[in-house]
Amino acid sequence: MNPMLGFAVKAARRAGDIINRAAENIEQLTVQHKTKNDLVSEVDRAAEAEIINSLKNVYPEHAFLAEESGRTGSSDFEWIIDPLDGTTNFLHGFPVYGVSIALAYKKQLQVAVVFDPCRNDLYTASRGAGAYLNEKRIRVSKRDKLIDCLIGTGFPFKANSDIETYAEMFKTVALNTAGIRRPGAAALDLANVAAGRLDGFWEIGLSPWDMAAGALLIKEAGGLVGDLEGEDQYLETGKIIAGNPKIFAQMLSALRPHSKKLT
Ligand code: IPD
Ligand code: CA
Ligand code: CA
Repeated sequence: MNPMLGFAVKAARRAGDIINRAAENIEQLTVQHKTKNDLVSEVDRAAEAEIINSLKNVYPEHAFLAEESGRTGSSDFEWIIDPLDGTTNFLHGFPVYGVSIALAYKKQLQVAVVFDPCRNDLYTASRGAGAYLNEKRIRVSKRDKLIDCLIGTGFPFKANSDIETYAEMFKTVALNTAGIRRPGAAALDLANVAAGRLDGFWEIGLSPWDMAAGALLIKEAGGLVGDLEGEDQYLETGKIIAGNPKIFAQMLSALRPHSKKLT
């Protein structure tokens, strides 16, 4: 295993232990609102500190971009971390949440870990070496008609979040697919595309830490990831379409006409 991936896996499992312990006593947690509908708990912070400390021990010169502590350090190597993706689910005891860790070198994603502590499922990828779920190789689905596809998404929930345009996109996808799912943790949704359980995914208003690891998983599983123009700017714009290559193209054609109306 790529040594950097190995350290990322250790860090993700440690964060998973913190999350699993806290899940036994959710009502004891102190929760704060970052903005409306955007929650953070001491678990998010403790898991993030654990990940950053354990990676900093090995790579003191690397930079970090993490949801709760922002950007620290300056280096061509940058770890992109969501310590607990799906905080709202976690706080409700709804068992769909996970840890997401990616490493970029000169902006290019190199290694990815998404860990689902509820199922003890570990998704890993390193650039050029494929994607794995618990050490078994995973690949995107083979479906080639959008109408047969199960598509994941996330609802925009912040103020001024283009909800009307999103609703139009939703209608287009709902009418042209076998179904839509909104599990509530983007990193796991993307991992499920990599594993072929979802044929595609789209969302607007995401942050780099929601997408970085999942995007590399999908690419290494043979899928495509892009923004709503089909370009590579999803980490910058927060707008993402992903899927197996055929479905990616069909989703892009279906959603691109709406993207001009987004702010
Ligand atoms: C959220 C989840 C959710 C997505 C939101 C994210 P968080 O992450 O990934 O699925 O729809 O946009 O903010 O806040 O739980 O880490
Ligand atoms: Ca997140
Ligand atoms: Ca989070």
